[in-house]
Formats: sequence, C-alpha cells, structure tokens
Amino acid sequence: MKIEWESRNMVTVDAPLELVAMCCQAAEGVTLPCAVHVLLTDDEEIHRINREMRDVDRATDVLSFPSVNYRPGTTARSSEKRLRREWDPELGACMLGDIIISYPHAVMQAEEYGHSVRRELCYLLAHALFHLMGYDHMEEDEKKEMRKMEEKALGMAGVTRDDGALAPSDGELCALARLAMQKSYSPYSKYAVGAALLTADGRVYTGCNIENASFGLTNCAERTAVFKAVSEGVQEFAAIAIASNGAPPYPCGACRQVLNEFAPGIRILVTWGENQMEETTLPQLLPHSFGPKDLP
Ligand code: THU
Repeated sequence: MKIEWESRNMVTVDAPLELVAMCCQAAEGVTLPCAVHVLLTDDEEIHRINREMRDVDRATDVLSFPSVNYRPGTTARSSEKRLRREWDPELGACMLGDIIISYPHAVMQAEEYGHSVRRELCYLLAHALFHLMGYDHMEEDEKKEMRKMEEKALGMAGVTRDDGALAPSDGELCALARLAMQKSYSPYSKYAVGAALLTADGRVYTGCNIENASFGLTNCAERTAVFKAVSEGVQEFAAIAIASNGAPPYPCGACRQVLNEFAPGIRILVTWGENQMEETTLPQLLPHSFGPKDLP
C-alpha cells in the first residue's frame, strides 16, 4: 500500500503508518498494489472539508472518501474488478480514495483513551482504510466485523500490545511479504523480493531487496527486515516469510547466516507464484551452523 502523504507540518510521532496500511491490506487479503491519499491537518481544515463535502458543520477526527463503489455487503477482497477500475498508471496502484485526519483530534482522543498519539494515529488510519475497503459501522454486526479487522491489522503491525493472539497467521505473513515485494528496488536484476519478519511478541517488520549501481552493495529483503528490527531494539524472531516470483525464494547464504545470529531456530516460509508456499526451518537450511554459540 502506497501512502500519498500531505501533511500540514504535523508530526506523526514515529507512528508506523506505512506498516499499518500494509497490514490492513494484508488482513483484507487484497493482493493488487493499492494506494491511498492521506491528508494530516488541523481542525479548521477538516471542519471546512466536512462542511463542503458532507454538509456537516463541525470538525471531526477522521474523514474518508472511497473511490471504489462496492456492491452492498461486499468489501475490497471480493471486488477486484472494481479495484482495477481505480488503477493509476502513474502510481502503479489502485487508488482507494482519500483520508483526512485531524492531528489535534488525534492528540485529544489519545489523552481521552489513555494511549499514545502514535496509537491513535494508527487507529484512525486503519479505521479510515477499512472504510475505503468497503467496511461500515451502521449496523451492530457490521461494526463488530470492522472492529475485528481494525484490531487484526493493528495487532499485525504491533500497535496493540496483546498476548500475541493477534499475530498474523502464516498465510498473512506471506501476504505481507508479497506486499513488501511491491516496494523492491531492483532495477538491475529485475528480481523483486519481499520479506516479513515475525517477532517473538507478534509484531512484523517488512523488508525488500535494495539494489545499487555498485552491484555488490545490494541488500537482500531478509536482511533489510532483520536490520530494521534490530535497529529498533528487537532481536527475537519466530518466523520469516520471503516472497518472490518464479521459483521458491529460499534465502541466500548471507541471509541464512544473519538470521542464525539472532534466531537459529527460526521458521522460514517461502512464497511465490499465485499463492504457493513451502515451510522449512533455519537448522534445515543451515546445518552445522557457526554462530554466537561457537564463540568463547
Ligand atoms: N535477493 C534477496 O533479496 N534475497 C535473497 O535471499 C536472494 C537474493 C535479491 C538480491 C538482489 O537484489 C536480487 O535478489 C538478485 O540477486
């Protein structure tokens, strides 16, 4: 999911909004590249937009304007044709619509609910994104379903710290790896790889391969994900999903060694083609490994 940002000098306090957007898409099970336009603004502007677009004369926390017209009772996962109509060739993605978030409202609500502004911004984005994917909360059962999806996506992104119950399934981890693959920078090999690394406490870090005109400086998707996690203080991992097209993308030797440093027993899922998946473990891929245990 690509976020087209527009911010009136608001600070997103390190909120993992890109990851939240990706997790919403993965939780919904949409595989087409999608994009969304997000405006982070003040109460005055959201008030004006609310008045002009909805005839509601007050500020609010979040507004969403879907570009896809879903059939009643359906959501994005079963509306591929309609999504494709919103294909933007410049973005290389289907534009789901516009989201406007009031930063001062997010701050106020965070205080009210006793959680961080970071969490509130993530929640508002997830809520609005599910609206853009066809969800609503008019009826009680619709509302329940929407809440469940929001919780699921936020859990996957590690925004709700629970007991890990919301961690993604293997299928969802693979879906996240495939979405991460869409971010690959691989103009030289044209071989896109994505990875989704599941932490021991149920959070996900994604990565893609990042090539360089000086070829040897290329970084693999798996290592991008591991380095993102470790650089944020996370060193315990349960599984990694690796996605590519063509053959099953088993990790290269260098990535096996890097995984072995932090998670010698890690489960490895590889996914390719439409939805194919194989599972293995690092001890199987790197027998008789050399690692921290071998040093005095
Ligand atoms: N690549 C990965 O991202 N992960 C692997 O485990 C194998 C290779 C990338 C690096 C390079 O951008 C491209 O695939 C071709 O080698």
